[in-house]
Amino acid sequence: MPNTMNTPVIAGNWKMHKGPTAAREFCRRFAELAPAHNGRTLILCPPAISLATAREAVEALGGRPDLHLGIQNIHWKTEGAFTGEVSAPMARDAGASVVLVGHSERRHIFGETNEETRLKVAAALEAGLTPILCVGETIAQREAGQVEEIILTQLDAAFEGLDADTIARCLIAYEPVWAIGTGVNATPEDAAAAHGMLRRRLGELIGTRLAAGVPILYGGSVKAENAADLVAAADVDGLLVGGASLDPASFAAIADAATAAYR
Ligand code: PGA
Repeated sequence: MPNTMNTPVIAGNWKMHKGPTAAREFCRRFAELAPAHNGRTLILCPPAISLATAREAVEALGGRPDLHLGIQNIHWKTEGAFTGEVSAPMARDAGASVVLVGHSERRHIFGETNEETRLKVAAALEAGLTPILCVGETIAQREAGQVEEIILTQLDAAFEGLDADTIARCLIAYEPVWAIGTGVNATPEDAAAAHGMLRRRLGELIGTRLAAGVPILYGGSVKAENAADLVAAADVDGLLVGGASLDPASFAAIADAATAAYR
């Protein structure tokens, strides 16, 4: 599990981009542009099929405790007749230490429910993967004044039944749906407001001391130009980057900007 204590977390979600060949090349180039740094936690989430190759590429670098791999989605069963699916133990075997759960594309394109996110968070923890639970409202929900209701419902549902120490091992990403892939990022003020709501609810669930240590990342149209302002906002502990994580130079620039700006 990544040690995120007092360091910003910068995660790249490649979505359905980069097969094994491109993943290997990315890791090689990114390692040159973003040398080892003990003041940050970097996570790359390639497509499942490229995970093992990315692991080999990272291992070939010879010791990068700051660089971790994640999978973008898992099934909650460990194995079985689920054609096309990948389980948490398999992801771990292939090199993942992290998993994205409840990404908005999973929720809105593939119909993933809050109950499924709960099952996936539990399966990830059981297999020793660190979940990054993604929550966020649509533009219609924001305009209807439902931001708090939506994101706290998503948070509560995913963590239902878990004890405080277990919840404290998770990461959260606030990703407003209207900001993902649109070029329109949330303002640092909007991000701080939503992150504050999540932090307060975490405090109610697990106590303020443990809640203070749960990294809450912001995602949605992050780029090198806005990374510093977003990560400097209150309660923003890192970034989950989609499109701008596909180019090693751009992702390295985001990581540098975020590392320099993190309080
Ligand atoms: P984006 O995606 O950076 O391309 O907006 C973020 C995400 O979906 O995690």
